[in-house]
Amino acid sequence: MKILIIGMGYVGTTMGAALANTGHEVTGLDVDKAKIESLTKGILYFHEPDLQEMLSKQLQTKRLSFTSDPKEAIKDNEIIFITVGTPSLKNGNADLTYIKQAAEMIGKYKNGKKIVVVKSTVPLGTTENVKQWIEVATEDPSPFDVVMNPEFLREGRALQDALNPDRVVLGSHSDEALNTLEKIYSNLHCPFIRTTPVAAEMTKYASNAFLATKISFINEIARLCDQFGIHVQDVAKGMGLDDRIGGAFLKAGLGYGGSCFPKDVKELLWTADHSGCPLRILKEVERVNHDQPQYFIEKVMKKFASLEGKRIVILGLSFKPHTDDIRESVSFSIINKLLQEKANIIVHDPIVKLPNEWVNKGIKQINDPYEATEEADLIIICTDWPLYKEIDWAKISELVKGHYIFDGRNILEADCIKKLGFNYEGIGYD
Ligand code: UDX
Ligand code: UDX
Repeated sequence: MKILIIGMGYVGTTMGAALANTGHEVTGLDVDKAKIESLTKGILYFHEPDLQEMLSKQLQTKRLSFTSDPKEAIKDNEIIFITVGTPSLKNGNADLTYIKQAAEMIGKYKNGKKIVVVKSTVPLGTTENVKQWIEVATEDPSPFDVVMNPEFLREGRALQDALNPDRVVLGSHSDEALNTLEKIYSNLHCPFIRTTPVAAEMTKYASNAFLATKISFINEIARLCDQFGIHVQDVAKGMGLDDRIGGAFLKAGLGYGGSCFPKDVKELLWTADHSGCPLRILKEVERVNHDQPQYFIEKVMKKFASLEGKRIVILGLSFKPHTDDIRESVSFSIINKLLQEKANIIVHDPIVKLPNEWVNKGIKQINDPYEATEEADLIIICTDWPLYKEIDWAKISELVKGHYIFDGRNILEADCIKKLGFNYEGIGYD
């Protein structure tokens, strides 16, 4: 089938490549001409494992192409996916500017029957709004349907998640539209959930909110483990073997970041508060996550009366491993707190390039992990990149000035590290 995807971000680009791989003829549309130019040349402008190869392969098959011309793109395609950004407004509510723009553009150029698929994470009731925005913007009398089809892609494994999802959730009032979407995804061997648009929107938010809840739950348990000298990983393992709990998302650490959990939790709280049905557990989930970096910095402050002038090395800038995405990365909350303490900050990340706004604050990025740790007074691990487990800590022990490691993701083996002469502290682990 011919498919148009509006919004060539992490999600749209990944979905485009995956759908082209399935045999569909996919056009990617974006307002950002630089992105379209890069993708047309076969250059992925962000880091996502295996996606560069898939992009190149699908460009060769001519099943995937890119454009910044909405008129032709919309006229040529009956099935139109929307994957534009829905960032948080200051009050926590999702910013629907781009969703509305995409809907109005579809209305403006609509020239016949369309199925509009909202894949961006949108607040409850937005899919119905999209239908109205299209109706108001169009002069074309042809019928059209809207479907809410949330994405569950994890950055760092987005292509894998797109090719092998756990489930496909489809929300629409039109059985014909639902049947068409099931045909589009007919190559997938997973359960399909057919429901209403608002139930599909809620499924997305509730899924992310629950995952965030698991993280804040284990992070609070980790604080209690600190009080009792318990290794939280042992507790998480013991919990996770119960299939009602499951072992995933029980890694204690600095808390969750990224372009989804923080914004989706905020949005769901906003909607709940404004519907007279506040979500009290989720409010605490957000508060625990907000306080986690400070809890960790207090561990550092207990060991150092002052951090002024101390050479502190931050390992990891991305919000999680295997991505270059720094949106809401906890690393930068930690860096901000250290700047307030007037520390001398060196950063390392396997792929992220420190943005200029941070370079201008006097932070230095060194790309070799050994060179970065030279003469360090203390090392703080913020992102659980596998590289930080693999590097030679015995060698680092010879390079540093002070032997202190604060492991915000509990990725090192405490006993081994201590044998090298380091003071080691994790979160619920030491
Ligand atoms: C986005 C949403 O943020 C997320 O909530 C949803 O689940 C999936 O889509 P992501 O792909 O990470 O996730 O967004 P982002 O990387 O910000 O990409 C959005 C793209 O839309 C950008 O490339 C932007 O240029 C493009 N865009 C934005 C348009 O093409 N048109 C617009 O009007 C606005
Ligand atoms: C998440 C959801 O997993 C995905 O289904 C949804 O479509 C988009 O949002 P993503 O944000 O890419 O995906 O990353 P994820 O792997 O979920 O991690 C989110 C954050 O939680 C990261 O900052 C990560 O470090 C943190 N995390 C994750 C923990 O702190 N502990 C864990 O056990 C797991």
